[in-house]
Parts: sequence; C-alpha cells; structure tokens
Amino acid sequence: DIEPQADLLDAGLVREAFPPRRRTSHKGNHGHLLVIGGAPGFGGAALLASEAGARLGAGKVSLATAPEHVGASLIRTPEIMARGVRGVSDAEPLVDMADVIVVGPGLGKDAWGQGMLQVALDSGKPLVIDADGLNLLALYWPDLQRDDWLLTPHPGEAGRLLESSSAAIEGDRLSAVRDLQQRRHGAIVLKGAGTLVAGPMGIGVCPYGNPGMASGGTGDVLSGMLGSLIAQGLPLEQAARTGVTLHALAADLAAQKEGERGLLAGDLASYARILMNLDN
Ligand code: APR
Ligand code: MG
Repeated sequence: DIEPQADLLDAGLVREAFPPRRRTSHKGNHGHLLVIGGAPGFGGAALLASEAGARLGAGKVSLATAPEHVGASLIRTPEIMARGVRGVSDAEPLVDMADVIVVGPGLGKDAWGQGMLQVALDSGKPLVIDADGLNLLALYWPDLQRDDWLLTPHPGEAGRLLESSSAAIEGDRLSAVRDLQQRRHGAIVLKGAGTLVAGPMGIGVCPYGNPGMASGGTGDVLSGMLGSLIAQGLPLEQAARTGVTLHALAADLAAQKEGERGLLAGDLASYARILMNLDN
C-alpha cells in the first residue's frame, strides 16, 4: 500500500532528466511519440499536446487526428507528422511505429474516440491517457488495470473514474489519488493547484505552478510533455513526477517574465525548453 503522505516534488528532477545529449545522437535515439486525439470538431487539444511533445525533445512526433485537423497541424507545426485517421484501420499502422502513445485530448466520446482508445489499449505500448480518454475508460473499461499507463485526470475526470464527484475529490485529494492508483495501477497524476502524482514509489505533491495555468489547454500540454519524457526513456512514474514539475516550473517562469494573466497553454513548452537546457 502507498503511504498516505506526500513528499515534495523538487526542481532537481528536471536537471536529472536532461543530461547533455551525446554529440553523435540522432533522432532515433530520442523516441517516437504518437498523440491520438482531435475528433471531428475538436482540433486544438491534440495539436497542443503533440506540439508540446515535440518541444520537449522527442526525436519524432506523430499525430493521429480527424482528417479535417491535419492542415492546421501542418501549418502550425510542420515538424509533426500529422495523419488524418477516419477509423481504426487508419490508426493501426501509426500505433505500430510509436514508442509511447498519448491518447485523449479532444478525443470525444463517440465511436471514433472509442475506436482510437481501443487501438491504443491493444497496442501494448506505454500509454498516457487524458481528458476524454479517461471519460471513456470510466464508461467502457471500468475494471481495466495496467502497470504501464499514466492517467492524468483533473478533479472532474477523477470523479468519473471513482464514481464520485469533483467536490468529493477536492475534499480529500490525497485519498483520491491513492484510491485511483490502487484501483487502476500504473501512475496517476491528479491535476489542480498542488498536483499529486501517485505510483509504486508513493505520492508526490508539486509545490510549483500558479493560477495563470487555469486556462484552456494547459492539461493537454502536460499530457504531451509526459509522453515526450517517456519516449525519451524515462520510466513512467519518474516521467510523471518530472513532467508535472517541469510543466509547473515553466508556468512560474512565464509568470515571472510576463505575468500570470494572459498565459496561453501554447506558451508553456517554450518556457520548459529554457529550463531543460539550463545545465547543458
Ligand atoms: N495552480 C496550479 N496549477 C493549475 C492551476 C492553479 N491554480 N489551475 C490549473 N492548473 C494546472 C493543472 O494542474 C493542470 O496541469 O493546469 C492544468 C489544467 O489541466 P486541465 O484541467 O486538464 O485543463 P485543460 O487542459 O483546459 O482541459 C481541456 O480537457 O480535460 C478536458 O474536460 C476538460 O474540456 C477540458 C479539456
Ligand atoms: Mg484536460
């Protein structure tokens, strides 16, 4: 059982995660991240997640999204291999190439999203599941447990996963994250001020971050960052602890430079980049 106490996540995690790159390294050494999301009508979230994954240093990033969003992704971030997927058979070859999959941002809860989540679950690859991916898990995979997944609920999503309410989760966040980890295994990130990370190592609490992060899309950026760290070889739980810390420190640096108000989710990864390179 996990101790019902949390230790503080520390900025040192970021330093440890990013040793200088070997001079001869090539993109194949830094992992291939696949982001799956962006159902018809919901393009932005998966775009933000994939862009953050690329900015954090994954060697390659692919995006599997509804065909209507491919053009927007190519224009904003042509480094990302954006592919339009109409259904499961379009997604399968993309899944085979990936080292890790982020699934959920903008996924929707209808047949398209369900099919995409099924493909991800069948892949045998490590998974980061966020947003509607979590809502679908609560609805259609209520008993599934895995050691090689990372779930990133906000309190509302945690409430659905625990058949409880967002208010109850907020009333006892520590118990909620521990219950979720016991129920679903793997690593759990319970988001919100003082984000908690639970896994076999125990529970960590993030002392960084600020209300500038309370704007649409910052969670999507986090999921892409986490996937990128896993693609680059960090074990799942360590990736969770490191990614949560880096995401919050990036927001603190952004607030210090430009103020809390007006922070856009899409700004965060560039600040994270500064922090990742401090010691190199
Ligand atoms: N202090 C510190 N961190 C904060 C604060 C705060 N006051 N407010 C928000 N955050 C952080 C959270 O810890 C988390 O990392 O910002 C991020 C917000 O993530 P989400 O709640 O997932 O928000 P968002 O990315 O906008 O979600 C977009 O996806 O989850 C679905 O239904 C949700 O439609 C929504 C969409
Ligand atoms: Mg979210």
